[in-house]
Amino acid sequence: SRFDTIIKNGQLITAADRYTADIGIKGGRIVALGHELGEADEIIDAQGLWVMPGGIDAHCHLDQPLGDGAVMADDFLTGTRSAACGGTTTVIPFAAQQKGQSLRAAVEDYHRRSDGKAFIDYAFHMIVTDPTETVLKEELPALINEGYSSFKIYLTYDDLKLNDREVLNVLAMARREGGMVMVHAENADCIAYLTELLEAQGQTSPYYHGVAHSAIAEREATHRAISLAELIDVPLLIVHVSGPEAIEQIRWAQGRGLRVYGETCPQYLMLTAADLDQEGFEGAKCVCSPPPRDAAAQEAVWQALESGVFQVFSSDHAPFRFDDPQGKKLHGESASFEHIPNGIPGLETRLSILFSEGVVKERIDPTRFVALTATNPAKIYGLYPQKGTIAIGSDADLTLWDPAARSTIRNADLHHAVDYTPYEGVELTGKPVLTLSRGRAVYRDGAFTAPAGHGRFLTCDKPTPARPRGQAKGF
Ligand code: URP
Ligand code: ZN
Ligand code: ZN
Ligand code: ZN
Repeated sequence: SRFDTIIKNGQLITAADRYTADIGIKGGRIVALGHELGEADEIIDAQGLWVMPGGIDAHCHLDQPLGDGAVMADDFLTGTRSAACGGTTTVIPFAAQQKGQSLRAAVEDYHRRSDGKAFIDYAFHMIVTDPTETVLKEELPALINEGYSSFKIYLTYDDLKLNDREVLNVLAMARREGGMVMVHAENADCIAYLTELLEAQGQTSPYYHGVAHSAIAEREATHRAISLAELIDVPLLIVHVSGPEAIEQIRWAQGRGLRVYGETCPQYLMLTAADLDQEGFEGAKCVCSPPPRDAAAQEAVWQALESGVFQVFSSDHAPFRFDDPQGKKLHGESASFEHIPNGIPGLETRLSILFSEGVVKERIDPTRFVALTATNPAKIYGLYPQKGTIAIGSDADLTLWDPAARSTIRNADLHHAVDYTPYEGVELTGKPVLTLSRGRAVYRDGAFTAPAGHGRFLTCDKPTPARPRGQAKGF
């Protein structure tokens, strides 16, 4: 027949439009949009459902080697399975360079970790920790041209951080080659100073992680990263922004016409410092960097999502089991906060949290939801229009969503390999009922339905939004 699949009667939502139409799929792509499309091997009735581009989780950590004895709970198998069950169809985790390692070797190692495992399509960001001459002059330019067109740099963590001169070198290279730079903006010395002070006073419980990772340290590093990027005249994306201090820096830069982009994550909408301040070691479940702040910070993050200061909403899924000597209890329950592996899980709950708290509560409209969770990440990381929209010729990566379904988040129902979720008991309105990856159902009504290995590696174009000022931006 003419189509492999037709999705009928759904309300289609893109970053620009809402309309009712049928979708004709053939060979894994969208080939027709309209009405009375004709015959198909499978007809899916989406009456009463919203049909959206599958989510793109552009910031998640899967099977990332860490070196300090901690082990990530999710690899490409469990991580992409969990993502698919939450309505996500593309993930972009990180191939991390260890200091002393070639970047090429890090990328090759990451391919070995992912080959044949993923349920959904995936690309790589790189993490650049050792910007040697060879990395700057040979490896990075080559890799950017081969489809690894974005990378993250850190201003904190002893084993990851770059100094300002190294940042400038890396930014200048990104400008020449057209790569998108993501930055983890926290001031390492501020955190080290506060950590030492707190530990000297015996203030070592998980709560003090949030005190040591002060919002002022985040603000300073955000401002500094923006200034270094302005000096080089290159776009920059500030990842996992936690509150008003860093938001103001980004808004200030954007107001001056700089191509500074922002990302935030569910934890900054749903958690506060009080979640780190629980009985015993429980607070370790919510230790991530930057840490969750307070209710006013949550409100500022919502406003920045609504007003367009943030372009991207990612999970920053960094999966560590709680009750595990390779996870949060790496150094035992009485260890100082500074030894707790940083990160919280969120691949599967990212979309439903933003939908329930944002769209259902009318803080953001449905088109903004799609822009933040799929279309903008596709544009910013060079996957558009293959991914991130509903258009003729795009991959049939779709999520069919019941906007009224009620549910409660229970870790027992999630598909990741982490033994907790920080969102246990959160009540939701709206959930995915069917996820299609290149036309194939990978999740349907509570169960995953594709073989591991269905997911393919994606090369990324040089992103239009990574171009310096004076050249078309891509929005
Ligand atoms: O605490 C966090 N965010 N862990 C993941 C690594 C990172 O910096 O994004
Ligand atoms: Zn980070
Ligand atoms: Zn991260
Ligand atoms: Zn230690």
